[in-house]
Amino acid sequence: MTDSVVETPPFDIEKIRADFPVLKQTVHGKPLMYLDNAATTQKPWAVIDRVHKFDSEEYGTVRRGAYFLSEGATRHFDDARKKVAVLLGTPDPNEIVFTSGTTQAINLVAHSFGKAFIGEGDEIIISNIEHHANTVPWQVVCQERGAVLKVIPVNDLGELILEEYEKLLSSRTKMVAVNHVSNALGTVNPIKEIIAMAHKVGARVLIDGAQSTPHMKLDMKVLDCDFYTFSGHKMYGPSGVGGLYGRMELLKDMPPYVTGGDMIQHVTIEKTTYNQPPSRFEAGTPPITQVIGLGAAVDYLQAVGLEKIAEYENNLLEYGTKLLNDIDSITIIGTAEHKASILSFVSDAIHPHDVVTLLDQDGIACRGGHHCAQPTMQRFQVPATTRASVSFYNKYEELDALAESLKKAIKLFS
Ligand code: ALA
Repeated sequence: MTDSVVETPPFDIEKIRADFPVLKQTVHGKPLMYLDNAATTQKPWAVIDRVHKFDSEEYGTVRRGAYFLSEGATRHFDDARKKVAVLLGTPDPNEIVFTSGTTQAINLVAHSFGKAFIGEGDEIIISNIEHHANTVPWQVVCQERGAVLKVIPVNDLGELILEEYEKLLSSRTKMVAVNHVSNALGTVNPIKEIIAMAHKVGARVLIDGAQSTPHMKLDMKVLDCDFYTFSGHKMYGPSGVGGLYGRMELLKDMPPYVTGGDMIQHVTIEKTTYNQPPSRFEAGTPPITQVIGLGAAVDYLQAVGLEKIAEYENNLLEYGTKLLNDIDSITIIGTAEHKASILSFVSDAIHPHDVVTLLDQDGIACRGGHHCAQPTMQRFQVPATTRASVSFYNKYEELDALAESLKKAIKLFS
C-alpha cells in the first residue's frame, strides 16, 4: 500500500466487512474484491436477517387485512416509509412513494407529471451524462406530448456546463431531469444550484439519486427538491424496491401512472376516484418484504453514518485515482472536481470487456461496458469503459490489487 492519501477509516473496517457475508468468499481461488457497487451493492446481515425474520414469522399483506399478521406487516411497512423519509430529510412520509426502483420512479414522474403539465412546444432539459433511465422516458414524453428535449453539455472533465444550462432555461422549460451522481463518470452535480436556477423560470426538477443515496447525507428540504429517486439494491437493501420523493403539492395534482387495487378511493363501473399520494401511485400489492428489507438497510446506513461513509469513500476514490493515474496507458474518463465512488477508465492496450474478464480471474468484480449511458460514451468518444465503484466496505488494499491486476492485463495485451 502506498502512503499517499491513506487515512484510517472512521470506523472498524474489519467489523464492517464482517457484516457482509458475501465478502468472505474466494473467487477463482482469490479473495473476492467487490468493486461493482454502482451496479448493485451487497447486503449486510442486518438486511438478510430482517428479511428472513419477516418472511418466516411476520409476513402478511399490507393495508388490506384486519387480522394480526396483516396489521403487523402494515405497521412495519409504514415504519419503513418513515425511515426513508428521515433518510431523505422530509418530515412527511407521504412524500415517499415506493416503486420497483429508480427506473420506475422516473417513468412515474415522466408519464404522470408529463400528462398533467407538459404540452406542445414545452421543453424538458436533461444532461449529456444521464443514465438511459433518465433519458428514454423523457424522449418518450417528448414524442407523445410534442415537447422538445434539450441537453446540458459537459466539459472534458465530465462536469455540467452551467452557463450553457442557463441559456437553455426559459419559460418554456417544464422539467429539468439530471442525476446527482453520474453512474458512468462519478461526477457529483451541483444540484442545489441546478434546482434554484430551474425554479427561477418556474420549471420543476427531478434528481436521479440512484448513485447518491448510498454515499452522502441528503436533505430534500435544504435542496428544495421537487422529485428525487432512489434504488434499494444500490443502498444495501433488496432489489425490486426503490422509490420517489415527491413534493406533496405536486404529487397531489398528478394523475396515477399505474392503475388497479389500493390506489382508488371509490370505484363504480362508470367512474373511479383516486386515493391521495402515496397510495395513488402504489397500485397492486407492493413489494412488501423488499420494503421491510429496505427499512433495515436504512437503519444500517444511519448506524454507520452517511458522513463517515462519504469521508471514507472519498479517501478510497482519491487513493484509487492516484494508483490508476500512475499506470501508463490508462486514462480516467470523468475527472470532475467533485466526484463520488466511481473510477471509470480506458486503456489503449485492452478493451474493457477483456479487462473485466481478466480482473475476474484475480477475484476482482468490476463492470465493463457503456453503463447504460451511451450518450456519455459518445461525448467522450469511447465505446465503453471499465468501471470500479467503491463502497465503505472496500479497503485500500483492494485498490492496490486492482492496480496490480490491471498492470498484468495490460502487459498481456501489449
Ligand atoms: N445503473 C447501474 C449501473 O450503473 C445498473 O451499473
